[in-house]
Amino acid sequence: SHLLLLNGPNLNLLGTREPEVYGSTTLADIETQLAREAQALGHQLSVFQSNHEGALVDRVHRARDEKVGFILINPGAYTHTSIALRDALLGVCIPFIEIHLSNVHARERFRHHSYLSDVAAGVILGLGAQGYSLALQAAHARLSNNT
Ligand code: DQA
Repeated sequence: SHLLLLNGPNLNLLGTREPEVYGSTTLADIETQLAREAQALGHQLSVFQSNHEGALVDRVHRARDEKVGFILINPGAYTHTSIALRDALLGVCIPFIEIHLSNVHARERFRHHSYLSDVAAGVILGLGAQGYSLALQAAHARLSNNT
């Protein structure tokens, strides 16, 4: 299937951004590794990162035209603010897994609420960059069961 990896604001700084919280792996490392793993599982992975809410919404809409079967998304801080991103994901009817590098529940209160979690297929958090691979495996399992 065609899969889409979305990363939200400030995740382009991964590797140098608060490494004690987010680790030292760069976003390019994560994207390259995940594309390789997706291909090994027989999928094609598109990747997109933006610091702009509307650009992420537009990319979600485009995913429907591209017949994307599953979205993996780390929405960054938009997790805690964006009804627009929630509505976009619901609007295209594409299942998605929400990913966070850090354990948001061990952090500030404002990170405890997500506008996406209750409509996500699942949520993976606190496991660092490995969370992306785990999400891919889960998406693969779901897609295999459906086809
Ligand atoms: C994050 C957690 C968010 O609260 C934060 O705003 C981020 C990254 C994570 O991956 O742990 O930008 O989504």
